[in-house]
Amino acid sequence: MSKLCVIGTGYVGLVTGACFADLGNQVTCLDIDPIRIEKLKQNEMPIYEPGLEQIVAQNVKSGRLLFTTDYVEALEGAEFAFIAVGTPSGMEGEADLQYVRQAAESIADLVHHPILVINKSTVPVGTGDWVADIIRKRRSGAPLEFDVVSNPEFLREGSAINDFMNPDRVVLGSLNRDAAGKVAELYSSLHCPILITDLRTAEMIKYASNAYLATRISYINEIANMCEELGADIQEVARGMGLDKRIGPAFLEAGLGWGGSCFPKDVKALAHMAVLHGTQPQLLQAVMEINRNQRRRVVYKLRKALGSLNDRPIGVLGISFKPDTDDVRDSPAIEVIHLLQNEGAIVKAYDPQAMDNAASLLKGVQLCRNSYEVAEGVDALVLATKWNEFKQLDLQRIHQLMRTPILVDGRNIWDPDRVRTLGFTYYGIGRGVNTHPNS
Ligand SMILES: NC(=O)c1ccc[n+]([C@@H]2O[C@H](COP(=O)([O-])OP(=O)(O)OC[C@H]3O[C@@H](n4cnc5c(N)ncnc54)[C@H](O)[C@@H]3O)[C@@H](O)[C@H]2O)c1
Repeated sequence: MSKLCVIGTGYVGLVTGACFADLGNQVTCLDIDPIRIEKLKQNEMPIYEPGLEQIVAQNVKSGRLLFTTDYVEALEGAEFAFIAVGTPSGMEGEADLQYVRQAAESIADLVHHPILVINKSTVPVGTGDWVADIIRKRRSGAPLEFDVVSNPEFLREGSAINDFMNPDRVVLGSLNRDAAGKVAELYSSLHCPILITDLRTAEMIKYASNAYLATRISYINEIANMCEELGADIQEVARGMGLDKRIGPAFLEAGLGWGGSCFPKDVKALAHMAVLHGTQPQLLQAVMEINRNQRRRVVYKLRKALGSLNDRPIGVLGISFKPDTDDVRDSPAIEVIHLLQNEGAIVKAYDPQAMDNAASLLKGVQLCRNSYEVAEGVDALVLATKWNEFKQLDLQRIHQLMRTPILVDGRNIWDPDRVRTLGFTYYGIGRGVNTHPNS
């Protein structure tokens, strides 16, 4: 059993802490947010993540998982300190490292025994060295025995516990292979490939992976837009591509584009790093531009169908950036809502989990209790997030409730033929209609 401290109890820190406790370690999770910690002590989850409440409750009960706001208490006797604080976008797209700095300084000031400092936050290439420098400088009078290991996190919100427990790989980067080896032991029971690299390479693997996934989505969206004009169906195109083993099916879903707390800030930060170091991130710039455009296209479609959107009531289904999470950071749905409001539309919206998080971001939006309330009296419904419950909607009832039955299916969840038969005007993403006279 190892003694761990996890700094930051957001999506990554809380899942990491709970899962390492479940694997038999003694874990103290620390956060500077007292409300968050108080909630966790009452077994109230500060985020929505399937399965999280149970795993936290079990491990708190077994005494292996503790929560605190006190750095001294959290770091006492810890062999491993995981930094899992936020790294949001700064003014110019760079990763803002103020929280990582605070965590590193606290470790430097408060630890008096050998420790491994592990960066789980997504941080620019070179941050591991920078963290080591911060600690070394603050401890110049009384050197601390420590190593820094980069351990980027690849979990996805909505399936975070499963992703942590069944990773495709664990990446560990360090200038000291023994230090990386000690962290590798923490993961040994997960029986997955463990890749040990130097610090900077590990940091780059995280950015390169996220940017590649975002690139695949922008690529399929670009093809989808061509499909709309050329009368092809992107769903079948993606299937046909994905069956090729060299390509594979993942991240080829056309839609409103990528969002969330990671891809937007990470692609921006990687592009920023590139420019800073004198290389041209041309592909990344295009990937971001395609993504921005994907939201605007919803508005174009509605304008085409309705003319001016001024004073038009429009409903939006889904606010979180993807299903099974309440995270609304950089959500495509929110951007679409703001674009609609800019056109003068009167927006109503509903999300199964994200209503509380969305409320402060959606000024002037009527937040509804369910999809049917959203549909009442609107001139169009925009499906923005692929929650399962939207797949099961009673579309006949929706049709009766709407003033004008226009569906913009931003995630291609409905069958175009079926909804057209029900009397809707249907716009999907990349679902061109083959109008050739012989078809
Ligand atoms: N959310 C994801 O799906 C995901 C996946 C992989 C990697 N990441 C990366 O992991 C990092 C954390 O992401 P997140 O979504 O969990 O962030 P988050 O914003 O949900 O949580 C960060 C937490 O850190 C706390 N914090 C900030 N400064 C602190 C300090 N000095 N000491 C202690 N706690 C502090 C905050 O109060 C907050 O609770 C980011 O770098 C992110 O890019 C996130």
